[in-house]
This record gives sequence, C-alpha cells and structure tokens, in this order.
Amino acid sequence: MSQTAVAYRPAQIWLHWSVVIGVIVQIGFHDPIVAVVDAREAGQAPTASDVSLAWVHVGVGSLILLAVLARLYLRWRHGTPGHAPGTSVLQARSATLMHAVLYGLLLAMVVTGMLTWTGIAPLGGLHFAINVALFFSALVHAAAAIFNQVVRKDGTLARMVPLLRR
Ligand code: HEM
Ligand code: HEM
Repeated sequence: MSQTAVAYRPAQIWLHWSVVIGVIVQIGFHDPIVAVVDAREAGQAPTASDVSLAWVHVGVGSLILLAVLARLYLRWRHGTPGHAPGTSVLQARSATLMHAVLYGLLLAMVVTGMLTWTGIAPLGGLHFAINVALFFSALVHAAAAIFNQVVRKDGTLARMVPLLRR
C-alpha cells in the first residue's frame, strides 16, 4: 500500500459513501432477520414476509462486503493521499488506526452475520456488539473529519466531499 496518491479517486469516494448508506440501511433495517433467527432458534417457522425481508439485510450486507473488498484493492493499487498537512504524528497515527479499525469492524460484521445466517455458528450477539462498536467508531471518525475541516481548516472532509474543494 502506498501513501503517494494526490487525492482519493472518485471510485474510492463513491464506495466510501455507498458503504455509509449501506451501514445505515443495515442498522435501521434488521427486525425481519432477527425475527427469522429467533423463530429458527425457537423451532418455529418464520413468516414468509420476514424471510423475504431478511434477504434484503443479507443482500445489502453482501454488497457492503464487495464494496469493502473493492476499497481495499484500490488502496493497495493506488494508495491514499496520506494525512493532511500540519497533522501531528499522534493524530496521524490515530487516524490510520481508526481507518484500520473501521475496515476490520465492517469485515467482522459480514463474517459474524454470514456465520449466523448460514447456521454455522450462532454469533448474533457478537454481530450486535460489533455493530455497536462500528456505530461509535464511525461517530468518532465523522466528528474528527468535521472538526479538522471546520476548526483546523485542513481540508480533511473535502477529501471525501469534492463539493467542499475550492
Ligand atoms: C456492515 C454490515 C452489517 C450491519 C451494520 C448489520 C447490522 C445488524 C444489526 C444492527 C442487527 C440486529 C442485531 C440485534 O438486534 O440483535 C443485525 C442482525 C443480523 N444480521 Fe446483520 N448487519 C450487517 C451485515 C450482515 C450480513 C452480511 C449478514 C449475513 C449475510 C447479516 C446477518 C444478520 C443476521 C443473521 C442477524 C440476526 C442475528 C440474531 O438475531 O441472532 N448481517 N445486523
Ligand atoms: C459507517 C460509517 C463510516 C465508515 C465505516 C467509514 C470508513 C472510512 C474508512 C475505512 C476510511 C479510510 C479510507 C481509506 O483510506 O481507505 C474513511 C475515510 C474518510 N471518511 Fe469515513 N466512514 C464512515 C463515515 C463517515 C462520515 C459520516 C464522514 C463525514 C462526516 C466520513 C468522512 C471521511 C473522510 C473525510 C475520510 C478521509 C480521511 C483522510 O483521508 O484522512 N466518514 N472512512
């Protein structure tokens, strides 16, 4: 992986925001899949509508997996712009660590979700706990990007929002 790119590529930016939308859909839309897993565990038949809607959660989750893999490939192939000028070593390390944590949590969501859905391992509780960690990590990450853009005025947010570029 190189750090030599001048800016994120349009594909990296589109994939970033597609994953954000996907995660919001997943967090807001999970009742049917929970109902299906609960019914299975209770030895009952889930309703047909819950089963159909559960596949939406599985489908969106699978698209998130493809998007994350594509992002990791683009990072490896084309690199990232590195940190904004004036970023301290501590802040740069925290940002790099946070990005790795976010990628790790996204992949862990997919793996625990798939293992639970296929019945290989009942990891619904872990899936939920990782989801909480992802939610708060993303919140801190977004707050840091907005802080850097608005207070430090170093253009961090503009890297992912080209409309903010002057
Ligand atoms: C980043 C991607 C994902 C997010 C943010 C997400 C989020 C969630 C949330 C918030 C729940 C409700 C947990 C609860 O209330 O107990 C849930 C449940 C579930 N999700 Fe996901 N999910 C994602 C990906 C996936 C994928 C890819 C699959 C499977 C292919 C999947 C399968 C499941 C299953 C089976 C449940 C029910 C777990 C249970 O009740 O034991 N999820 N998901
Ligand atoms: C589910 C929510 C989110 C996830 C999982 C996520 C994940 C990530 C990851 C993994 C990166 C590193 C990209 C790379 O270098 O390959 C990144 C970069 C970035 N994200 Fe997010 N993000 C989320 C939400 C947000 C939000 C809401 C904002 C803005 C308010 C935001 C702003 C940014 C910015 C500006 C960068 C570039 C940072 C830099 O180059 O130093 N992200 N995001």
